[in-house]
Amino acid sequence: MRRLLDRSVIVTGGAQGIGAAYARALAAEGARVTVCDILSPDATVAAIRELGGNATGQVCDITDSEAVARLVEHSVAQFGGVSGLVNNAALFATLRPRPFSEIGSEEFDRVLRVNVRGTFECIKAVLPVMRAKGYGKIVNIASGTVFKGTPMMMPYVSSKGAIIAMTRAAARELGGCGIRVNCLAPGLTLSDGLVGNEDYPEEMTRSVLETRCLMRDQTPEDLTGALAFLLSSESDFMTGQTVVVDGGSVMH
Ligand SMILES: NC(=O)c1ccc[n+]([C@@H]2O[C@H](COP(=O)([O-])OP(=O)(O)OC[C@H]3O[C@@H](n4cnc5c(N)ncnc54)[C@H](O)[C@@H]3O)[C@@H](O)[C@H]2O)c1
Repeated sequence: MRRLLDRSVIVTGGAQGIGAAYARALAAEGARVTVCDILSPDATVAAIRELGGNATGQVCDITDSEAVARLVEHSVAQFGGVSGLVNNAALFATLRPRPFSEIGSEEFDRVLRVNVRGTFECIKAVLPVMRAKGYGKIVNIASGTVFKGTPMMMPYVSSKGAIIAMTRAAARELGGCGIRVNCLAPGLTLSDGLVGNEDYPEEMTRSVLETRCLMRDQTPEDLTGALAFLLSSESDFMTGQTVVVDGGSVMH
């Protein structure tokens, strides 16, 4: 079943890692996908087109409101509208886990600026298009670390807590115009960036694994089914919720 045949979806941070897996999976479900990233999204777009999917790409810094406005214009011009938004772009895999006493204020501001303000800019930019249609599906990517209070990543965990709060506030404000806003909270996932980050201690990956009911590594593909569901009409009576996909590590 291809659940997203009538959907035009923007995926932020889709040049690599989990975002690229989201973009590929949504295109396979029939969505017309606009991939954006601060890096070139060309490889993701090419991979989708090779498999017969429909995708376009744009380089865009999500903290730049004018660039985000151009991204939405591009998506509307290419695909006639925007019915879905996946706020996946964030600073995560490039961060070095360490005690918060060693983390400077500049890093704290930078993480909050991209992860929280960037998400705010993207939601704001798609609003007029979704409102005009009286329908929209927004999925914000949070993290299981919020529920665990994971140490050594305080700015990141704070930013993802804010994403869950923003999701709830946006769901309340936007329900009246048919826009659903939900969160997907992944557990520790072996993304390209995480695997390539030498600063990420292996024992952190091992210790997370031991907390799972399903004791194996999590891959980006473990997340795509829940994402497609949250973007499809099958979840139209859900809003303001956070769905944790982590092999049963967090139960909330
Ligand atoms: N990998 C995990 O274990 C894990 C767990 C929970 C949540 N997450 C979340 O999933 C998402 C993807 O994770 P990942 O592991 O692939 O991370 P990643 O850091 O490898 O990917 C993030 C992507 O966002 C892009 N990006 C960064 N700043 C940007 C900006 N200002 N504008 C546009 N794009 C920007 C990066 O270039 C990158 O392609 C993130 O939101 C992350 O917080 C990841």
